[in-house]
Amino acid sequence: MELARDDERILAGEEGPTRQQMLELLVALGKVFGAERLVPIRSAQVSGASYKTIGEYGLEWLRSLDAKAVVPAILNPIGMPRGRWEEMGVDPVFAGKQEEVVAAYERLGVTLECTCTPYYLYQTGFGDHLAWSESSAVSYANSVIGARTNREGGPGALAAALIGKTPCYGFHLAANRKPSIVIDVAMPNRKMGMAEYGALGYHAGKLVGNRVPFFRGIRPDTDQLKALGAAMAATGAVALYHVEGVTPEARDPAALPASLEMIAIEAAELEALFTDVPVDAVAVGCPHCSPAELEELSRLLAGKIVTMPFYVFAAQGVIDRNQKTVDRIEKSGARVFADTCMVVSPVMEQYSAIMVNSGKALAYVPDMCGAVARMGTIEECVRVATSRGSG
Ligand code: F3S
Repeated sequence: MELARDDERILAGEEGPTRQQMLELLVALGKVFGAERLVPIRSAQVSGASYKTIGEYGLEWLRSLDAKAVVPAILNPIGMPRGRWEEMGVDPVFAGKQEEVVAAYERLGVTLECTCTPYYLYQTGFGDHLAWSESSAVSYANSVIGARTNREGGPGALAAALIGKTPCYGFHLAANRKPSIVIDVAMPNRKMGMAEYGALGYHAGKLVGNRVPFFRGIRPDTDQLKALGAAMAATGAVALYHVEGVTPEARDPAALPASLEMIAIEAAELEALFTDVPVDAVAVGCPHCSPAELEELSRLLAGKIVTMPFYVFAAQGVIDRNQKTVDRIEKSGARVFADTCMVVSPVMEQYSAIMVNSGKALAYVPDMCGAVARMGTIEECVRVATSRGSG
């Protein structure tokens, strides 16, 4: 692999053992994937931040490192809202350990925003190279913004943050960003909201695996694209997709190779995902809510009181910039928490059935929380959370 003179110095250990170890990791990754060079990145998003997932071994490894991030770097959601963990009912022993993980990252110069929506906080533009970890954030960056990132593992993203570069392979290269399957969507009678796009992504991800789908027949807005991509990354391994006439790298369909496989998805295939099982909690904000989602929620909850736990998740920076909206939501008894989510917080394991409006949460809640997941629109989530029964 071609390396700059500065990189050779780092590899020789002239900037300390941590930077040496981190660059060795990036070079090894690059060799495995056939990268010819490293590419400078604009930002990093580092997974492996929840004590629930990294445990004591991961914490010890973080503590052994000694260097500072040289590009803006933030964390993936952790197991608790940092300022409000008691209110969420997080076990104090877990909270203490989680604080130690966060402190270890802070020492490495990582900003203590813990979110899967870094694009609401950091300027990220078309063509920017990134080293992001969380699958929905990666999908959004590649597909909706037209930035370039592979789905980094936690150590790879942290190494990229500390070195400021990542190996140039995979989705950093234009040749790998072309569609590899066409999906024609026919939803003539179904109003397509966030939940429907989440359901579409849940279904499509299972069909396409890790290919690059090109959708025709839909006109999602940016929040709906977020829901679609998050779900496809969860049930498949889709890190980039295109939507005709909507996303920045969607080609003229006439220019698509005639040999591309084409599949069709119809409304009836998604209906079965919307059930009416009784639930004991509602959780929205997977991926973390946008300002528009918070605004819609505050409108739907106006004048109502929730009769079961209702969790809303968003980035702290988004909460801070929309505090009045958040206050209106919380007047209903719902709670808007930063830094965590319904999948990574151990608190959610106390429930037997959780209602969500997200295809990604629908895929992950059963395994990660041990609970049944019920899919519904945001209107249905509010109706269920504010009615006396659970259905
Ligand atoms: Fe984000 Fe947690 Fe969903 S990390 S995408 S809210 S599972």
